[in-house]
Parts: sequence; structure tokens; C-alpha cells
Amino acid sequence: MIEVINLKKSFEDKEVLKGVNLTILDGEDIAILGKSGEGKSVLLKHIIGLLKPDEGSILVDGVDITKLSKTELYKIRRKFSYVFQGAALFDSLTVYENIALPLRERGVSEDEIREKVKEALYLVDLDGTEELYPAELSGGMKKRVGFARAIVSKPRYLLYDEPTTGLDVLTSWKINKLIKKLNKMEGVTGILVTHDIRSALYTSDKIALLKDGIIVEIIESSRYKEAKTEELREFLRAGGLIEESNKD
Ligand SMILES: Nc1ncnc2c1ncn2[C@@H]1O[C@H](COP(=O)(O)OP(=O)(O)OP(=O)(O)O)[C@@H](O)[C@H]1O
Ligand SMILES: [Mg+2]
Repeated sequence: MIEVINLKKSFEDKEVLKGVNLTILDGEDIAILGKSGEGKSVLLKHIIGLLKPDEGSILVDGVDITKLSKTELYKIRRKFSYVFQGAALFDSLTVYENIALPLRERGVSEDEIREKVKEALYLVDLDGTEELYPAELSGGMKKRVGFARAIVSKPRYLLYDEPTTGLDVLTSWKINKLIKKLNKMEGVTGILVTHDIRSALYTSDKIALLKDGIIVEIIESSRYKEAKTEELREFLRAGGLIEESNKD
């Protein structure tokens, strides 16, 4: 379980997070929705301990990660995998070697690596691409290699930061299907950051809307029509999911 409690973060004089509160239960998949620049990536980076807050705490399975030493944090981070906004692959490494990286860091044997990479490639529907280099792949395929690398170490928490940025509509939809599939894997809690309300609803059980530095509303995806805040209703209207109001 992840508990974000009264998280505050400023950069110079710009207050980005102003007291974020959010609880993510085990096995519950959540989408953090917000416009560009609202601080979604900043929030995600706090959750995996890449940024330290000015105030507040983040409990991962009861442990406040904001208080940990670098070594302790390193251990906790093994519970997480992070799919970056770009594909973030190493161009000089094959698909196999890119996916094997997190396992090599952990000293896993070559036989086990081979088996796990194969399994991960199967999951993302890229069997047989082991020996290709990133330059030989399409944008969507590169993204899927990034997903394979994220799941190969069997994380408890899978974090995705705008994974469909820069992809065409059809490829984006394939990626959304993949996110949903990975989120449903046993023992996985998915945390998706997006500004796309449709991806959020499709992939996740819950949606939390980040606006002006706080979470303004959390709803279950299946009950989106009951959204209360004007901010969330605006997203729903923009996505064609509820009727336009007469004011617009
Ligand atoms: N390391 C940093 N130093 C200074 N300012 C930063 C830093 N990281 C983020 N910011 C600022 O914090 C604000 C929120 O940034 P963030 O990247 O979290 O937005 P976002 O919601 O992820 O947007 P997008 O949807 O465009 O990715 C922005 O104004 C950004 O300029
Ligand atoms: Mg971002």
C-alpha cells in the first residue's frame, strides 16, 4: 500500500505540490489525471524516492521512504518499476540486453535472465525480437520493450508516466490494452499518470485528479458519470464522455 500524506514541493518560488493526499491499496490500479504542468511527474518521482519533498511523507508498505538513507531506498525501489515518458532504451544494446538490465543489476543468472526476457517479450507481444536494436523498431514497439523491461523484475508497483505520448491513436490504444493487462497481473498495483481521461478510465479502477497542487477528486472509473468537481467534469466533457454543459 502507498500512502501519500500532505506532500508539499516547491521549485525555487514555484509551489508545485501543495499538500497531496492519496492512498493506493494493493492490487488497486489508479490513474493520476491532470493537465500538463500540474505536477504529475513530480508526484510520481516522489513516490519512487527520486525527489525529496519539502513537507509530508510517503509510506510504502508502512515505511516512510522520505526518511530513508540511499541504501535503504535502493532496496525499497526494487518493489517499483517505472515506465518513462520516452521509451528510454539504450540504442547500443539489443532488445534482449535492454530488457535484461534490471535483472543483471540484481545478479540473476544468465539462464534465468533468458527465460524471464522471453516471458516478458511474450507478454508485450514482441516474441522473436531479442536480437534487434532499438533503431530497427517502430515507436510503439520501443514503448513495448520499455514495458517488458519494467515487468521483467516482477515489481509490486508499476508506474507509467504518460506512456502513450507521441504515439498515433491506434498504437496508443494497443498500449492502453497492454497497461490494462499488466495492471491485472497478480500482485501488481498500477499507477498511471496521464492527461487522457479515456486511457485513465480504460486502464484503471480509480481516477485521482491533480489540480493546483492537490488531489481535488477521486472516483471509481465505473462511476465517472457521478464526478462532482467541475475540473473533472471538464475532462469528461473534453473526452466526449458526458454531455456538454450549456455554459460552454
Ligand atoms: N527539477 C525541476 N526543477 C524546477 N522545476 C521543476 C522541476 N521539475 C518539475 N518542475 C516544474 O514543476 C511543474 C510540474 O512539472 P511536471 O513535470 O510534474 O508536470 P506534469 O504534470 O508531469 O506535466 P506533463 O503532462 O507536461 O508531463 C512544472 O512547472 C515544471 O516546470
Ligand atoms: Mg509529466
